[in-house]
Amino acid sequence: MKHDVSITIDGKTVALPVLEATAGLDVIDVRGLISEGLFTFDPGFLSTASCESKITYIDGDAGVLTYRGYPIEALASGAEHLEVCYLLLHGELPTQAELAQFKSDINERMPIDAQFAKIFDGFTATAHPMSMLCAGVGGLAALFHEGLDIYNADHRMESAMQLIAKVPTLAAMSYRKSIGREFVDPDPSLGYAENFLNMCFGESGKPSSVSPTLASALDRIFILHADHEQNASTSTVRLAGSTECNPYAAIAAGIAALWGPSHGGANEAVLDMLNEIGDVAVVNDYVAKAKDKDDPFKLMGFGHRVYKNFDPRALVMQESCHAVLAEQGVEDEPLLKIATTLEKMAREEPYFIERKLYPNIDFYSGITLKAMGIPTPMYTALFALGRTPGWISHWSEMLSVPFKIGRPRQLYTGPTQRDFVPISDR
Ligand code: SDX
Repeated sequence: MKHDVSITIDGKTVALPVLEATAGLDVIDVRGLISEGLFTFDPGFLSTASCESKITYIDGDAGVLTYRGYPIEALASGAEHLEVCYLLLHGELPTQAELAQFKSDINERMPIDAQFAKIFDGFTATAHPMSMLCAGVGGLAALFHEGLDIYNADHRMESAMQLIAKVPTLAAMSYRKSIGREFVDPDPSLGYAENFLNMCFGESGKPSSVSPTLASALDRIFILHADHEQNASTSTVRLAGSTECNPYAAIAAGIAALWGPSHGGANEAVLDMLNEIGDVAVVNDYVAKAKDKDDPFKLMGFGHRVYKNFDPRALVMQESCHAVLAEQGVEDEPLLKIATTLEKMAREEPYFIERKLYPNIDFYSGITLKAMGIPTPMYTALFALGRTPGWISHWSEMLSVPFKIGRPRQLYTGPTQRDFVPISDR
């Protein structure tokens, strides 16, 4: 503990402890305030630390992102996604033997049995993949509920491996359902990202023809999305999990929260926006719309609650984007021209500079995924696939130490108590 801060309430000085961070901001422990007859007030939690965590650290001004202390740039260039999943779950990088075992554990849990696959029969081909993924992951609670002890670390690790294994299979099944094609089974001889791409674009019983460059680019995209401290969907998973609910249900809640265009749905919204702009010549008009307070239009893929300089993931994503466009021979992709013109304008525009609105991870991921031939409605499902290890690591971290059910209070400004008037007198 660092030192106290004190506030004066009705002439009385109240000391509040300050708890020290190993990196980033220290926190004022306000738990004692309720006994002084006061709540704190922070809609949207801009100045609120909801929990203590040892998983991911972000410095928004310095553009720093670390998973268990390792910089995202080093992990994105030197590791593979399953290695990062192991790191997030266990807190340490795996040895070669540990990684080989983890990969084998994930592979054997990837298949979805035919009975469960019938869940997709309830959807039409027009169903959004996120609706099917949300239902599919929530439905896994039907398979893994009896006897699941969330306070048993082994049960938590099993749940984590099941989710890391089955979310890509369910996401690929959602895609195949949307194009009316039969499901392709996971192939344990393939890498994680290649397996997902083969389940999406491959043929049952035929060897994978997935490009290694695209598989590597997608694996890196999964790493960039793997965790991001207490973002809206991770906070949703923690809040749902704090009721001691089934972990698959808690992750389904996280998927639901991620879907919104202000959060993970932004990558799909970026493409919709670029297609709506349609021509470099009118980019200026859209920048003007984004600045207009009376116009609800926002530049999707710009701005971030925490990053007020640059999103380090966006810089790595930008490199991947150009590599994939070159591999696909679409460097002159018209949408990329609109995107780079938009980014240049936004960087010179006082409105964006004053508000520290810079491209975030979603800005380039949408263009990269498009160049990879992945249909726009699948983008947020890919974000969910990448984020699953982060969600389940936070869920498990919360349950590994004493915790309380999340139950915020409020500032009530409704009517004070009044007498009921029977309908006969109204
Ligand atoms: C993700 O939290 C995470 O870590 C999320 C994430 C993760 O990995 O989990 O990083 C993933 O969700 C990235 C963000 C994806 N969303 C988008 O790209 C959607 C567009 N961005 C905005 O909706 C917005 O920037 C947010 C939601 C991302 C952040 O919103 P904040 O922090 O609540 O900021 P704000 O809305 O209060 O904006 C501050 C000002 C406002 O103007 P003023 O009222 O001060 O005049 O900036 C303006 C806003 O109107 N503004 C924008 C804008 N974003 C903010 N104006 C135009 N276009 C934008 N994109």
